[in-house]
This record gives sequence, C-alpha cells and structure tokens, in this order.
Amino acid sequence: MPQFDKRLLCIGGGHVGGPTMAVIAARCPRCEVTVVDVNAERIQAWKTDNLPVYEPGLLEVVKQVRGRNLFFSTDIPAAIDKAEVIFVSVNTPTKTFGEGAGKAPDLQYWEKTARTIVEASRGNKIVVEKSTLPVRTAHAMERILNSNNKGIHFEVLSNPEFLSEGTAIRDLQSPDRVLVGSHQTPAGIAARDVLVEIYAHWVPRERIITSNVWSAELSKLASNAFLAQRISSINSISALCEKTTADVAEVSRAIGMDTRIGNRFLEVSVGFGGSCFKKDILNLVYLCENYGLEEVARYWESVVFINEYQKRRFVQTMIRAMFDTVAGKRIALLGFAFKKDTADTRESPALMVARRLIEERAVVVVSDPRALTNARADLSDAPVGRVLFEEDPYLAVRGAHALAVLTEWDLYRSLDYRAMFDSMEKPAFIFDGRNILDHQALYAIGFNVFPVGKPARKHF
Ligand code: NAD
Ligand code: UGA
Repeated sequence: MPQFDKRLLCIGGGHVGGPTMAVIAARCPRCEVTVVDVNAERIQAWKTDNLPVYEPGLLEVVKQVRGRNLFFSTDIPAAIDKAEVIFVSVNTPTKTFGEGAGKAPDLQYWEKTARTIVEASRGNKIVVEKSTLPVRTAHAMERILNSNNKGIHFEVLSNPEFLSEGTAIRDLQSPDRVLVGSHQTPAGIAARDVLVEIYAHWVPRERIITSNVWSAELSKLASNAFLAQRISSINSISALCEKTTADVAEVSRAIGMDTRIGNRFLEVSVGFGGSCFKKDILNLVYLCENYGLEEVARYWESVVFINEYQKRRFVQTMIRAMFDTVAGKRIALLGFAFKKDTADTRESPALMVARRLIEERAVVVVSDPRALTNARADLSDAPVGRVLFEEDPYLAVRGAHALAVLTEWDLYRSLDYRAMFDSMEKPAFIFDGRNILDHQALYAIGFNVFPVGKPARKHF
C-alpha cells in the first residue's frame, strides 16, 4: 500500500497557509501535505519551534505532524509536479500603484503563482483559491492555467478561509462552515467532491456547503464586510454615547440581546485592524465601482471611513484631555498587535495612534507581549528618540503622563495599576481603547480615565 492516498500542496506558508495545512495534516493522516513559500526564512522557521506565525495551539499541532505527513519546502516546482490538489494562499494586498491603486487587490503574486503552476505541472490538477480574491478571479486564473499547450486540465475551486487570527486553530478545527465553490460541470463537481472529502474527515457534512465559484468568492468579501460593518456601527454609536453620557456597553448589550441581531462583534474599540477587513471592503468597493454601482460602493466605503474616524477621534480625545498638547510628554501604548493573541500588526489601529502622537512630538513607548519585532519594523522611520520599545508594561509607563490600552491582551486586565500610578507623572491619564479595564477602580486610584463610548472620569 502506498504511504499516502493523496498529495496536497499549499503555495504560501503565512498566517492562513501554515495553520490550515497543519490542521489538514493532523486530521487527514493519509494525505501528504507540503507547504512551500518564496520566503526561505519563513520556510526555515516552520521547521523549528520558533514558528513564523504565533497562534495559540499551533506549535502543538505542527509538532504532531511535522515530518509525518506535513513538510515544508522551498522547491516550489518539484512540489507542484507531485501534488494532485494545490491550495493557493499567497498574499493579496491592496494595490499601491496604477489603475485601482488604494482599492483594488494586487494580484501579481497570485498571477505569478498561476504561471509557476502551469510551468511545473505535467498532469491534471485541482487548484484551490484559499486567498481572498475579487469575484471572477478564478475565471482569469483558469484562462492562464488552461492556456497551456501540454494538454493538461486545471480545475479551479474557490475555498475561502474564514479563520480569525488568534483563534485560528480553534476556527480550523471547528469551523462554522466550510465553503467550496466549483463550476457546475462534471469536472467541476468531481473536483469539488475531492475537496469536500478532505474536509469531511473532521467537519460535519452539514457544515460543508457548496456553491458556484462566484458565490464563494463574493461570500468571503461580503462576510468580512458584514463583520467590519458591525464594528463600525457600534463604534459610530460610541461617538454619540460620549456626547450624550449614554454608555456604549449598555447600548451594545441591549442591542445584542435581540436574537435577530446577536451579541458578537459588537465590542467597541479604537478601531478594527488586521490585514483583511479594510483590504477586502476596498476590494468590494472597487468591484461595485467597476460594475457602475456607485451607491453600493459608497455604502460599503463608509464602513472604512467610520473606522478611520474612530482612530482619529481616539487620538483627538487624548490630546484634548492632556491640555491640548502632548509635545515632549511620554505616552505608553499598551498593545501594538491588531488584536490579542497574535504578533500581527498589519493595519493595527495602534500604528495610526503612534504615528499621530509622534507627529504631535510626544515620546511614545510601545509595549506588547508578542508584537514588538513587528512594531519596531513598522515604526523604523520614526525620528530618533521619539519612539521607544519596552516589553515590560511597568517599565513602559514609568515616568509617563499617560497610558493608552490599544490591544485587549488579557495580561493588561490584571496589572498593578496602583504601582503604575505611583511611577507616573501627575495628573496621570488612562485612555482605554478597548474598554477592558475597571474604570471606577482606576479613578479611585487617582487616574483620569477616558474609555471609549462612556463618560470620562476626571479629577479636575
Ligand atoms: P501572509 O502574508 O501571512 O502569507 C502569504 C505568504 O505567501 C507569504 O509567506 C509570502 O511569502 C507567500 N508568497 C507570496 N507570493 C508567493 C509565490 N509566488 N509563491 C510562493 N509563496 C508566495 O498572508 P495571509 O495572512 O496568510 O493571507 C493569505 C491570504 O488569505 C490573503 O488573500 C488573505 O486575504 C486571506 N485570508 C487571511 C486571513 C488572516 O486572518 N490572515 C484569514 C482568511 C483569509
Ligand atoms: C477577520 C474575520 O473575523 C475572519 O472571519 C476572516 O477570515 C479574516 O478577517 C480574514 O479574512 O482575514 P481577523 O482580522 O483575523 O479575522 O480578526 P477579527 O477577530 O475579525 O478582528 C479584526 C479587528 O476587529 C481587530 O482589530 C479586532 O480587535 C476588531 N474587533 C473585533 C473590534 O473592534 N470589535 C469587535 O467586536 C470584534
């Protein structure tokens, strides 16, 4: 009996490719799973215990399968030739140049990948879009893939990934749903069934849903747009709460208890971040514009506008509260990752907050339990002496006029704020961009406390 029944490959070993393939390998021991990447350093890191992506529980899964049926390599052509099913999970950032700059996705990595697949293949293959792509990308890819003169057929499926960073392993092991989009042709349906069988190793059948390719691509963009819309909705209400002394937590609870609305993703914040929400909404906006749907485009674009507004508003509150000047003041930022339990800082609201404070000539001290390496790279262009990095939150706040909580790391809930207060300049300020602290207790210690969407508690 051959050692493996099926050979799977994932091109792109990042936040999605690595964890997804580790879980597939763990759940499908008879599949040989290989992950390749153009970034040799990343591939090398996947072979160590210092993985290139931090996710709770990921190392345990990787250790269980690495060398058994999960392999990492930089030999992309050899891996393509061997594989029957190729997942493509390369990055698809927003275009920064030319037509559609600032909105359209940059598809150069994805197209390069398609061309590499054609060149290296000697037999038919199933190509699975895992990256988030604009609707009808599969069509373009098929044209590139199937314009080969080797007589090889490629069947393209759309299988968007819905995992969230920080909970990737849990999301992959127990997904709300798995979506497989295929052409409704005999070849499309046969390919779809191959992928469905892989997921059926651990995902209940009723949670594996199928659709046409375009619906699958659009469902991914629309899901992210709906999720981000909820955050922008509650964040917009937070601005009104601050004017009226309503409390956004009370409003959010009252709204969320309506079972038609539901209580998740209604947590107010300094703004949403991450590599996907903004990019995918802008992608949707660009798509609508291309189809002449101006009103629809403006509707979704406003979700991004409110997010920018929320971040700006947070910094304005800080400056106004601190007597309209932060020049020369030391301000500690607790948290730089875009959410807890990840080292990822892409589009983190902390980045905008830090940059604005630096512009105002503050001395910013960035603290984070996991994200300082990324934070250093993100702020490498800051003027010398304007930004410092300190993992220990107690050292970060020492001598500071203010601290701002920007990531909801659990550890920030239980710090000794009395000791911190004693080591800070007075009057001491706390700006809680995640509303995770006990504001009344902080006020009692002597802090001036500024939550989001709740009345400030001031001693003056
Ligand atoms: P990432 O940047 O972490 O990883 C992408 C990897 O692809 C990188 O390691 C890069 O070196 C590699 N790559 C780029 N071009 C390549 C090529 N031609 N050949 C081989 N490797 C190549 O990105 P990510 O966060 O994993 O996102 C990947 C895709 O998944 C994006 O389209 C994203 O929108 C989508 N997605 C991301 C998340 C998330 O939470 N991060 C969730 C769902 C979907
Ligand atoms: C998001 C989606 O949740 C995933 O389903 C999707 O697969 C992924 O995007 C993607 O396509 O990349 P992710 O960005 O990893 O996942 O993290 P989220 O948990 O969605 O958080 C995004 C941002 O929104 C964070 O900055 C978070 O702090 C913020 N947020 C989230 C809020 O401000 N309030 C909330 O109630 C929830």
